[in-house]
Amino acid sequence: MTLAGKHILLIVSGGIAAYKSITLIRLIQKVGGTVQAILTEGAKQFVSPLTIATLTGRPALSELFDLTRETEIGHIELSRSADLIVVAPATAHILARMANGLADDLATTCLLATITPVLAAPAMNVRMWEAPATRRNMETLRRDGIAFVGPNEGDMACGEFGLGRMAEPEEIFEAIEAHFARSGGPLPLEGKRVVVTSGPTREPIDPVRYISNASSGRQGSAIAEALAARGAIVKFVTGPAEFARPKGCEIIAVETAIEMEAAVSAALPADAAIFTAAVADWRVVEPAGLKLKKDASGTPPEIEFTANPDILASVSRLPGGERPSLVIGFAAETGNLETHARNKLARKGCDWLLANDVSPGTGVFGGTDTRILFLDGPEAEDWGELSKIAVAERLADRIANHFATES
Ligand code: C5P
Repeated sequence: MTLAGKHILLIVSGGIAAYKSITLIRLIQKVGGTVQAILTEGAKQFVSPLTIATLTGRPALSELFDLTRETEIGHIELSRSADLIVVAPATAHILARMANGLADDLATTCLLATITPVLAAPAMNVRMWEAPATRRNMETLRRDGIAFVGPNEGDMACGEFGLGRMAEPEEIFEAIEAHFARSGGPLPLEGKRVVVTSGPTREPIDPVRYISNASSGRQGSAIAEALAARGAIVKFVTGPAEFARPKGCEIIAVETAIEMEAAVSAALPADAAIFTAAVADWRVVEPAGLKLKKDASGTPPEIEFTANPDILASVSRLPGGERPSLVIGFAAETGNLETHARNKLARKGCDWLLANDVSPGTGVFGGTDTRILFLDGPEAEDWGELSKIAVAERLADRIANHFATES
């Protein structure tokens, strides 16, 4: 019960999802947390200050220049006395004000003055979410260390469908719990040994040429960092990639699939193994010792290929004592996602599989965002469109929950 005794400053801004803050307050209080609410002017159009005050047992604040309160508490104290500030719903407008350091009401003044961690649950129309200005603001806020939960995809109050719907109160509550699980007491993955593969492999043809792919290592690197931040001892086996230095991990750099396989077996035993690497399926049987020369007729060389070892499949099939208790694979597909993903899960013998569509035009391969279909045995969950960092956080929390319920 990580939330017992914790004090949450809940900032409710003016969106239709404001009514869901009532459920969120109840969830927090049910496990022994306390809530002080601040309502923006807009929020008061959607939810009554009296309802919020009655529920929280404290006045629902919104005026910056309430002199009594300024002398009694003051906005600085208000923002610092909380263990966590939650902005739910966070409208496009309040996100823009936060990103630009505006302080024109009590809510934004507290947000600017605070040294307390902030978790925001964006809620807005899909076009507003996708607008370049919101994209820029989100990027800034992420860099500033603001944590996010949602938004989700779904039907909107305005009749449109898409990304921008606020995460459900239960999901926000889980994110709050996960925050405290990370920040207080032992970390949830303290001491767990995890191996993560990442990036492409590079298979030589001759001393200057090779076969490889465009994997950036962004997803694997984010997963390794998220696990290390939760206390795991992470061995990060990476091919030559742009993102190859996750914080807090032991880094083992390799080039070929054969080297990656050897590095993974040397990194075992482990409690979990996550295979994000885009391993080349084939390698050249005998790479030339010298650079291949063009012959006078212009005939291309005949190159013989052989299959690379499937590292994920072989680790999944290790005998009981040697197999990590949780083996996770990835699938990059271009169509028929669920069917291919289900076949892959069975064929590889792993426990969980995260499938994403990397068709041209999606921008997933090498990009910052993705859309995951998560398979855990027969269960399939669409995680919606998320940044690769958000996928890493969600997966790391899931792994932590897996080990928490197992022990
Ligand atoms: O078969 P496919 O390449 O689509 O499988 C993808 C999954 O298998 C990924 O998790 C990838 O890291 C892993 N894999 C592997 N060794 C290979 C090929 C794929 O570990 N030779």
